[in-house]
Amino acid sequence: MLTLGVNIDHIATIRQARRTVEPDPIAAAVLAELGGANGITIHLREDRRHIQDIDVQLLRKTVRTHLNLEMAATDEMVLIALDIKPDYVTLVPEKREEITTEGGLDIVGNFYRLKEIVVCLQSADIPVSLFIDVQETQIQASADTQAQFIELHTGKYADAPNAIVRQKELEFLRQGCEQASNLGLRVNAGHGLTYKNVYPVACLPRIEELNIGHTIISRAVLVGMERAVREMKLAMRGQL
Ligand code: PXP
Repeated sequence: MLTLGVNIDHIATIRQARRTVEPDPIAAAVLAELGGANGITIHLREDRRHIQDIDVQLLRKTVRTHLNLEMAATDEMVLIALDIKPDYVTLVPEKREEITTEGGLDIVGNFYRLKEIVVCLQSADIPVSLFIDVQETQIQASADTQAQFIELHTGKYADAPNAIVRQKELEFLRQGCEQASNLGLRVNAGHGLTYKNVYPVACLPRIEELNIGHTIISRAVLVGMERAVREMKLAMRGQL
């Protein structure tokens, strides 16, 4: 069954706009779960621009589905993950000046460092997912780190300027899923997915979880969190 991880970072983005206590990411996670979220995803960024350390601690105690902690491959974040023990960690690249995560991780170029972190987290029973672009070499290198999961970056598919390019990007995703699963990797996907473009990705064989944030929180602002998540689950089944 394809599952949905709801990224609630933007709830914290709104709160941090005023450095106040509302809206509360904990309440958002509860409502997302009531709406059918299969997991809650948060990105603790080095600059703490949205999610704060206390959110991670509280969500660890309150999330009833699973907690996916997105983080950069730094010593600071590894220590936090070892302390919090999320249900899994997704390693992502991070640049201070970016608005959101831009490309995927360069596993090939940072192989030994990343493998060390994968082994360290996994030996503490924390499964690891690597957020990568859809490239054969990156998929192979991900398998070589012994990570259990990859998350394929769907940004190029989402940003495709026309239907022909979108179809081509979807085909790359399909091939990426196949290569990864033949290598024994479990496959998640995400970034830039919306109510309108999610269905073809949801239909790809072998994908286990979609991680979706911006479009769900945008709709939640208008219609409420529970309904926004329920509607995304419908969209993933082609029923919206
Ligand atoms: N997956 C990863 C690794 C991400 O960094 C993000 C953005 O935080 C997402 C998925 C969700 O992307 P979006 O907010 O565009 O749905």
